[in-house]
Amino acid sequence: MKIWLKAYDRAIRAISQVNKTLLFMTGFNVNIDAVKHVKKDDIERALRYVSPVEIIKKISEPPMKVNSIEDFLAGLLFCLKEGLGEEWIITNAEVIKKLEGILGWDEVRMGGQGGNMSNVLATLGQIVIPNVPSLPRQQAYLFYDRNVVIPVLIDGKVRFKAPSEAVRPSDPPLIHWISEFRKGLTVRLGDLEFEVPRDNRFIATFDDVNTRLQLAPGFWEGSILRARRAVAAAVSGYHLLMDKYPDGTTCNDALKKIVALIKSWKRINPELAVHAEMGFTTNRNVRKAIISMIFPHVDSIGVNETELYMFHSPIQDKIPNLYSATDLYSKARELMKKHGLKRVFVHTREYSISLLRGSYGICPEKELMALLFGAALAATLAATGKPPTIKDVEKAMRQRAFKISEEGLEEQKKLASFLDSEGETRFRSFIKKGFTDEEPYVIFIPSLLVKNVRATVGLGDTLCAGTLAGEQLLRRN
Ligand code: GLC
Repeated sequence: MKIWLKAYDRAIRAISQVNKTLLFMTGFNVNIDAVKHVKKDDIERALRYVSPVEIIKKISEPPMKVNSIEDFLAGLLFCLKEGLGEEWIITNAEVIKKLEGILGWDEVRMGGQGGNMSNVLATLGQIVIPNVPSLPRQQAYLFYDRNVVIPVLIDGKVRFKAPSEAVRPSDPPLIHWISEFRKGLTVRLGDLEFEVPRDNRFIATFDDVNTRLQLAPGFWEGSILRARRAVAAAVSGYHLLMDKYPDGTTCNDALKKIVALIKSWKRINPELAVHAEMGFTTNRNVRKAIISMIFPHVDSIGVNETELYMFHSPIQDKIPNLYSATDLYSKARELMKKHGLKRVFVHTREYSISLLRGSYGICPEKELMALLFGAALAATLAATGKPPTIKDVEKAMRQRAFKISEEGLEEQKKLASFLDSEGETRFRSFIKKGFTDEEPYVIFIPSLLVKNVRATVGLGDTLCAGTLAGEQLLRRN
């Protein structure tokens, strides 16, 4: 444990000492998260509006989308019961009105992987060009205004402006319903009674803009103009796509323009590291389209344990609860091989694993530091509820606000035995260093856990953006 805490300290120090400001691009989803911290009485109140029998039935066969308030409650209770963090699309605007009345929200926060990653990078002092498909005033205020630059077209020319100066007042606010819940909450519904096993969140999304992966006016032109100078792009949001839209178009149509943009960036700057962070993708045709259209054009993908399974076996709709590091490693390795990826990054609550090819341009020692840095940022966000500066992270580490995940350490041992038995590395060496010496390199870190969690949403985005920043800063050191 002490060794890992020291490794965390070392990584944060090494990265904070690289005094460089780099340029990043982010896409494609930005929205407003309306966050409700769900308590016992909220659930009891909401359940008064529905029939328990119907909800129990829906929990046993989850509809995976929200067309009624019953569907919403089934999704929420399903996640509460299993401790899962799913995201379902709301297909009926009426549900929103009802939710406002029944649940309401406690606070609004920046949302969408593109939005969250932009704020993390900007708070770290890096410059970011995000795609912001809808930019009403309410959305602009959620950006860390200083280092975020929005490309705006004025008389056909691109200008870069701070979000507060780039507002498009008539754009719609895109509000996603985030129900955050805590471990230990007890729920009773008819004969069904359970205790929530883990802190997590359920997201219900009603959003006609991000579900089509729309590009903001000026983003194509602005990002092309700066592609040569940028060091990395983090591109996400595909999980919101629909198989078919009411106008007859499909997710493939939406993906075509995104792929064309990524290919143009790469033509201009072959060195640009493109990382695609996945999300909870309920539709199997959408999963297949992402794999066949996006995977061939990105260097790296990021997944949690559920998403790893979803993209490893895209035609399976039933997702098992996978946690073992050996399982995740084997699946990640197959995914990497099948799609010729240079990096597969798997993050879970207890640990993260990165599989890396030398062609990604980062050595395993530096990747380990970047992962530790990203994980420390995510833990600080979990503890404080807001995107951290490096100073916030250092302070939290000094105050010993975290502990190393014991489960993570156990999983490292099991993975070490497995890799040893496969002849891929020596047990001791992997335990001591946290990485292997042969391609594809396997890099492992146990997470930092927080006692009082103030945020669960956006942790993956913070980990991913922090790691990306860490890699690029160390690469240029
Ligand atoms: C998804 C949700 C968004 C949330 C984000 C967190 O993109 O749509 O509301 O902020 O996940 O990672």
